[in-house]
Amino acid sequence: MRTLAVVNMKGGVGKTTTAVQIAAGLRARGRRVLLVDADPQGNVGNLLGLSSPHTIREVMLGEVAPAEAIIEVDSRPGLGVIVSTPAAFTLETVLAGTVQRETLLSRRMKDLHGFDVMVIDSSPAMNLLTYNALLCVGEIVMPVGMDTMALAGARQTLNGVNEIRSLWPDRQLTLAAVVPTAVNMNTHASRATLQALAADKEMGPALFERGIRQCIDLTYAAAAHQTIWEYAPASRAAEDYSALVAQLDGAQTIETETTYGEKAQAGIQPSIH
Ligand SMILES: Nc1ncnc2c1ncn2[C@@H]1O[C@H](COP(=O)(O)OP(=O)(O)O)[C@@H](O)[C@H]1O
Ligand SMILES: [Mg+2]
Repeated sequence: MRTLAVVNMKGGVGKTTTAVQIAAGLRARGRRVLLVDADPQGNVGNLLGLSSPHTIREVMLGEVAPAEAIIEVDSRPGLGVIVSTPAAFTLETVLAGTVQRETLLSRRMKDLHGFDVMVIDSSPAMNLLTYNALLCVGEIVMPVGMDTMALAGARQTLNGVNEIRSLWPDRQLTLAAVVPTAVNMNTHASRATLQALAADKEMGPALFERGIRQCIDLTYAAAAHQTIWEYAPASRAAEDYSALVAQLDGAQTIETETTYGEKAQAGIQPSIH
């Protein structure tokens, strides 16, 4: 199973929006997708209009198996969701004495079958759930907002990721995409932030250059408990997220369908996964 976490230590940069649209977009391309909310704010469930008594909290505590917590609605076959609620805020305290509590989620998810991709939404804090999300995945998607604090937040996030890489060196943690969100090229802030992202040694190579343009339909879609393709399939946001999903899915297709030798022959540098 391919595993992606959507992270950024800054709030309001489009993490939940991106996690939901990536999950829905990959599902539309025929992947069976599990979307997991690892943010106690529970915005994934709010956005999609889903709730369940079995949440990420019960999964983390071992009270229910992941399969029992998955919600799958008839209107979105192939998209399973594990929601979160503010009750997950207490996990930190409840699990304080538990050994290896940072890898609980990855161990609980190990035996889960039936999905091609797992997408995890995360909170803007380096808390226990965020550690668990990062230690559960092979790839990171980082949305970055177009304001002056965005780069600082992105770098802070990468520092956290690097800390995890040094503490758990056996874990794969690839920066799959840096996604500029709410881009408005008429503003200096957007142009300057994009330029700085492109010039950054770590983030530049992973930059999704076209970005996700500013689009109010994303907010209206969330209020209507719909994905962007359900709410406004002809919108700018639907177009941009389709391109992002195609890039993410395409990258994966190359990895699975081309052998190392073929890539070397074609002169393509194999990325480290
Ligand atoms: N490309 C965009 N254009 C306009 N508004 C956006 C865009 N992406 C996200 N938003 C809005 O910004 C707000 C914060 O997004 P959200 O995904 O909840 O961020 P986070 O999960 O990082 O806190 C929401 O109201 C969302 O609808
Ligand atoms: Mg969020």
